[in-house]
Amino acid sequence: MRCAGDPCAIAGERGDSLSIREAVAIAHPNVALSKYWGKLEGPGNFPAVPSLSITLAGLTTRTRVRWRADLPDDRVVLDGHELRGPAAARAVALIERVRSKLGLAAKAEIESRNDFPTASGLASSASGFAALALAAAAPDGDWDAAHISDLARRASASAARSVFGGFVELDAGPVGANEEDFLPARQVAPPGHMPIVVLVCVTTEAPKAVTSTDGMRRTMAKSPYAAAWLDHAPRLHGRLRDALLSRDFEHVGELAEGSALAMHACALAAGVTYWNAGTLEALAAVRALRSSGTPAFATIDAGPHVKVLARPEDAARVREAMTAAPGVQRVIEATPGDGARLGSAAEGP
Ligand code: PMV
Repeated sequence: MRCAGDPCAIAGERGDSLSIREAVAIAHPNVALSKYWGKLEGPGNFPAVPSLSITLAGLTTRTRVRWRADLPDDRVVLDGHELRGPAAARAVALIERVRSKLGLAAKAEIESRNDFPTASGLASSASGFAALALAAAAPDGDWDAAHISDLARRASASAARSVFGGFVELDAGPVGANEEDFLPARQVAPPGHMPIVVLVCVTTEAPKAVTSTDGMRRTMAKSPYAAAWLDHAPRLHGRLRDALLSRDFEHVGELAEGSALAMHACALAAGVTYWNAGTLEALAAVRALRSSGTPAFATIDAGPHVKVLARPEDAARVREAMTAAPGVQRVIEATPGDGARLGSAAEGP
């Protein structure tokens, strides 16, 4: 994914093995309409079910990667705090993959900043690993968007989707997947395809207690409904995709809410609880909106926040109702946005 033209201010150093030593990438989180929950067994981080998401303009991650020969180890700084050990492991594994492909010895200094709560179920790992994959691979102009997406997926499957803008799909991993199998996401429709607003109702600023990887593992190991979810999710996904391509907002909304509720029901049955009191209050507010004739639908990822899908003409009314819901601390408005891109040094974190 080359950066066109001069404004792409990747600071370059010519005349040694690495022409680009520093790159900034900007990415947005995404919200899944049909959820990915559950991984294929074995290495490679392949999803067990397909998923379809909206990449969200309005929330942003900015990441800078500097390749430095003078660093003893890779360094990861997120929102001003250095991550150590397991917290940095996925970022370091991604860097290691790029390093070995490019035959580099240099260590990477990664600095990343989100303008929204990190690690609380607002999909910061999606935008974070999409931005990291793009910035890390910048020295090698041979990586196209699909290869960046595949690289990001290995760290966080939802990150594969944030590489692309608009409405984006990621297939389930192949049966009998090998670690090196290629599985990128792809755009289903551009941002303007179906007018929609996503109102992110933040119900806590605290980080979540159970990571999505742990939550999925526990769900698949313990939930009596795991097999039902694995059977249901691909069928719901196909129906949602068709509804989206027909621009049928209400059908998309109903199916998206159904996907989130089925995913959380399956997780809850294994004792994996992401909701808080504000989540239930927000869900009640969405149902009240529908009873009063406003089509609004809820979705929830691996965290307590409720993301409300509404038509742009209803956004102000829905926002007012959600802001008034007890337990909703603030509402962030997002619309379908662009995929990850390289940025100028001034746009860095
Ligand atoms: O990609 P991960 O490991 O952050 O998991 C994402 C899981 C959900 O957000 C709950 C669903 C999804 O499809 O994004």
